[in-house]
Amino acid sequence: MRTDRRLLLASHNQGKLRELRELLRDISVMITSLDGFPHLHAVEETGRTFAENASLKAGSYAKQTHLLTIADDSGLEVKALEGRPGVFSARYAGPGSSDELRTQKLLSELASLSPELRSARFCCSVALADEEGKIIHISNGICEGRIAIAARGLGGFGYDPIFIPEGFQQTFGELKPEIKNQISHRARALAGTRAFLRSLTGSSKAR
Ligand code: IMP
Repeated sequence: MRTDRRLLLASHNQGKLRELRELLRDISVMITSLDGFPHLHAVEETGRTFAENASLKAGSYAKQTHLLTIADDSGLEVKALEGRPGVFSARYAGPGSSDELRTQKLLSELASLSPELRSARFCCSVALADEEGKIIHISNGICEGRIAIAARGLGGFGYDPIFIPEGFQQTFGELKPEIKNQISHRARALAGTRAFLRSLTGSSKAR
């Protein structure tokens, strides 16, 4: 049963929103997204870490909307690039560039590297702010893997077509969403948030 407590998912990224909604589907809240609030001030991601940026976004959007708010900040860290693009994953090929340009840029930077040297990991921090904008919970998740030689698969979003999670041969772009939602950085970070939200909202059903 859903309560009338509202939860704002502070993102316009449709890929992220789809995953967050699915991962929170058994929590007793009414979920809404930034798409329902076109006049809010955009938050600049000036933090140096995923957790800092997630907190900046959750706190600011909660203050502006007076809603319980979740923000996710995530990105891809590539070992051969000393952790780049990291917190700059969304802006890697310049502001406003497409997912395809970003993945092509990364593939060309790694072009000379063999599969053993293509280690990478997705990182995600999820911050939860209360209706006054106070951060009440932060959790983190990581998904280890490697960068494919070429893009494969049409599923997911962002860097999914070039990321092969550990233990699989397919990219996230090729794997079913149900599989990604069991092992992804976002699912792992959300596990902590879900437990906290269940206690906050009185949701009893476990996944
Ligand atoms: P931000 O969290 O809004 O700063 O954006 C994170 C960026 O990292 C996204 O625009 C994607 O390019 C990338 N990213 C984060 N999570 C994923 C994922 O699950 N799959 C593919 N790309 C992702």
